[in-house]
Amino acid sequence: MRRKLFGAIVAICIGWFQAEAFTAGFIKSPMSQMKLIEDSAELDCEVIGNPIPEVQWWFIEGEEPDETVTQLFDGAREDHVRINATYIHHATSTLFLTNLMLNDTGIYECRASNDPDRNDLRTPPKVKWIRSQANVIVFEYANVMTDPPVVSNQTNATLSCNLTNPPSPIKGHYWTRNGKIIDKSDSTSDSAYIEYRIEKVDYHYAGIYECVFKSEPQANATIEVKALPHVVAYKHSENANEKDKAALVCVSHGYPLPTDWNWFKVNEVGGKDPIVNGTNNDKYEIKNTPNKTTLYVKDLNIEEDMGVYECHGTSDVGKAQDKIQLRVRSQLAALWPFLGIVAEVIILVTIIFIYEKKRKPDEITDGAAPLKSSTATNHQDKNVRQRNSN
Ligand SMILES: *[C@@H]1O[C@H](CO)[C@@H](O)[C@H](O)[C@H]1NC(C)=O
Ligand SMILES: *[C@@H]1O[C@H](CO)[C@@H](O)[C@H](O)[C@H]1NC(C)=O
Ligand SMILES: *[C@@H]1O[C@H](CO)[C@@H](O)[C@H](O)[C@H]1NC(C)=O
Ligand SMILES: *[C@@H]1O[C@H](CO)[C@@H](O)[C@H](O)[C@H]1NC(C)=O
Ligand SMILES: *[C@@H]1O[C@H](CO)[C@@H](O)[C@H](O)[C@H]1NC(C)=O
Ligand SMILES: *[C@@H]1O[C@H](CO)[C@@H](O)[C@H](O)[C@H]1NC(C)=O
Ligand SMILES: *[C@@H]1O[C@H](CO)[C@@H](O)[C@H](O)[C@H]1NC(C)=O
Ligand SMILES: *[C@@H]1O[C@H](CO)[C@@H](O)[C@H](O)[C@H]1NC(C)=O
Repeated sequence: MRRKLFGAIVAICIGWFQAEAFTAGFIKSPMSQMKLIEDSAELDCEVIGNPIPEVQWWFIEGEEPDETVTQLFDGAREDHVRINATYIHHATSTLFLTNLMLNDTGIYECRASNDPDRNDLRTPPKVKWIRSQANVIVFEYANVMTDPPVVSNQTNATLSCNLTNPPSPIKGHYWTRNGKIIDKSDSTSDSAYIEYRIEKVDYHYAGIYECVFKSEPQANATIEVKALPHVVAYKHSENANEKDKAALVCVSHGYPLPTDWNWFKVNEVGGKDPIVNGTNNDKYEIKNTPNKTTLYVKDLNIEEDMGVYECHGTSDVGKAQDKIQLRVRSQLAALWPFLGIVAEVIILVTIIFIYEKKRKPDEITDGAAPLKSSTATNHQDKNVRQRNSN
């Protein structure tokens, strides 16, 4: 009796165990990827099964007849391989490939098995390993030859790019200027040699050009197109009051922007006196950014500071300049409009006063002034009515 019961329990336990045991199955498979040389890649593999399956990584290199298959371990391939595996509720294994080389191109295979005989060399054919593969393709950086590499001091230019080692078929190309796609430069041509024509190289068209080939991955190269900067006064004529501070501003556009700014004051004989920051009892202060220069002239003096100022911007291509006329008004001049208004008011008041004084005697006989007009119209109305009734 006891033996029977024990046997039944054992049988149930074994049955339960057998029902629960199941062969390995992937819940996450590694993904194929394309990478540039020296980049890194991560391949994930997750497997369920009972017991928890063992996961291995294998590398398959070369084509079918002469392919070589090697198992990967932590530190393999000159320490470029790292494997991080956990076997908790199920098996997870991540293969990290660092500092990719062209010879890392190949098939990476995740193998999993929970067959108890899986590693028994004497019984190989029975052992069931399940497999999941991913392709990793490592590219060289695309080599784009530019001609010319830099455009400087030219009136017109033809930019060209030659992609000498397309990493994959070219699906088209486009050009950008300062990071913005140039309208109409987008094309679906599969040519590896492209050109872009600039009819007039000036500050409007100067900038950093980039040719982009729509391959996988994209290939690009840059060409610098330099022109004389465009320097222009923010206002060509500036008015300020004596003792006040004037701010003279010049801005610049184009590529490259000025690396140096200089200010000059045109003197009586037509020469130019350089203005140095902080000189003349701190009268002058200069503030510069590549695209803007500001000259502050403080404590303005009519004789000394009125006149023509010049801002000069210099880049490695050359120099450009503009002029600003500074007019200084005396402090009294600033008062003139106000004094004019005061004088006008005084004159008006005087006229009204005189006029009122002259009218006064008549008004007394007519009665109260505000009623005057209404009585007048009343009279008129009466006259009209009388005329009508006649
Ligand atoms: C892969 O190629 C690099 C040179 O590009 C070489 O140094 C390295 O030994 C090669 N790795 C293997 C595993 O053959
Ligand atoms: C390895 O896995 C563990 C647990 O998932 C994680 O904490 C650890 O950061 C991983 N190591 C690397 C190098 O990713
Ligand atoms: C630009 O070209 C002119 C003549 O076209 C030449 O005189 C000048 O030196 C050139 N400047 C630079 C920076 O090459
Ligand atoms: C383009 O510039 C070159 C010199 O840089 C000049 O000889 C040629 O005439 C220019 N072409 C046009 C169409 O302006
Ligand atoms: C592009 O470069 C290749 C390789 O250097 C060369 O054979 C080919 O002539 C070039 N194409 C053009 C249009 O310059
Ligand atoms: C050009 O290539 C660089 C890497 O070489 C990349 O960072 C950049 O985003 C690319 N530019 C475009 C417009 O594709
Ligand atoms: C001019 O001097 C002021 C004050 O010392 C300083 O803030 C400013 O950067 C100087 N400007 C230039 C162009 O050196
Ligand atoms: C000058 O450059 C700054 C950033 O460097 C930019 O914010 C500003 O808009 C530019 N000003 C002009 C007038 O181009």
